[in-house]
Amino acid sequence: MKGVFASNPLEQYRAYESKITAAIQRVLGSGRYILGDECVAFENEFADYIGVSHAISVGSGTDALHLALRACGIDQGDEVITPSHTAVATVAAIQMAGGMPVLIDIDASNYTMNPIHLKELITERTKAIVPVHLYGHPSNMEVILKIAADHKLKVIEDCAQAHGAMIGSGMVGSFGDMAAFSFYPTKNIGALGDAGMIVCNDSELAGIAKMLRQYGWKQRNRSEIPGWNSRMDELQAAILHCKLGGYSKDLQRRRSIAAIYDSELAQCDRIIRPVERKGTTHCYHQYVIRHPQRDELQEYLKAAGIQTLIHYPHPVHLQPAFKKSINCKHDLSVTERICSEILSLPIYPELGDETIQFVSEKILEFEKENR
Ligand SMILES: Cc1ncc(COP(=O)(O)O)c(C=O)c1O
Repeated sequence: MKGVFASNPLEQYRAYESKITAAIQRVLGSGRYILGDECVAFENEFADYIGVSHAISVGSGTDALHLALRACGIDQGDEVITPSHTAVATVAAIQMAGGMPVLIDIDASNYTMNPIHLKELITERTKAIVPVHLYGHPSNMEVILKIAADHKLKVIEDCAQAHGAMIGSGMVGSFGDMAAFSFYPTKNIGALGDAGMIVCNDSELAGIAKMLRQYGWKQRNRSEIPGWNSRMDELQAAILHCKLGGYSKDLQRRRSIAAIYDSELAQCDRIIRPVERKGTTHCYHQYVIRHPQRDELQEYLKAAGIQTLIHYPHPVHLQPAFKKSINCKHDLSVTERICSEILSLPIYPELGDETIQFVSEKILEFEKENR
């Protein structure tokens, strides 16, 4: 078996190659390369897919979060509650908006914000909550939204890893005041460069986000509010249109891969497999297991040519850049404990059954040799 990658944007490109080539040719010949018809078409298509009224294309997932926070009125020193177990981008975006991140612990079963701790973290300075649907598992939005409503807080969903994940029949991204998606190349719907999207149902918030992404312009060359420059390329929008067209199949495949891992690894009692909370649909951006000998297992798989990753090895609150600048006086013990146990196994739609079988066999082999 040749080397197995944890994710594989090249294979995904190959799967869509003829459509992408045609899309690129179309854009190259259009003479419009930023925020043109392709962006508008993809915004409309993506809003329909998520089931919201508005989608605003931007330069990256980080920008989507930053501008959504700004649109929701986050200002200097406002406290924003988000998990420490996330990509640093979530916390960095809060700081970019001038907010003070307040970090909350996660639920050990699904690695998303544990809303049990929310009330104790809310102060008179708290303005918003940013739940992160990490690995593609939906956060507990029912409880989060109730607490947010009781305290008049905005909710901005971080959906960077959660394209197509659902709670009941609603897609994540349709529950909060606003939501942010990333189309980083390895994401479930990945561009061939950076790209992101803000979604919401409120036309006023959508209008503000649109102004914020381009110098505060409502009309060209007239800045109504201070703004930034974060726009999607026409090329990326055209490529993402191709990927969104095939996404229901790709998502189904991710779920099938997860089901194979689930059944193959069920016999290892030392492995904690991902769960899917009742009533939710996981989109398996990552298939993350926990193992008490994580580092040894990772080395063992590496020696067999299997790449695995750790999302994330260091909680945000323990990283040098954030240690001093964020508010985290609270118990983050689950976050700290799971960091040494988590391992993301290879998962992407083009991964064949025999490769998943091979990865599973190697894990079982490791178990046999190390028990
Ligand atoms: C949870 C989460 N939030 C935000 C981001 C930021 O997205 P981007 O890399 O497109 O800026 C990412 C991507 O790494 C992510 O995984």
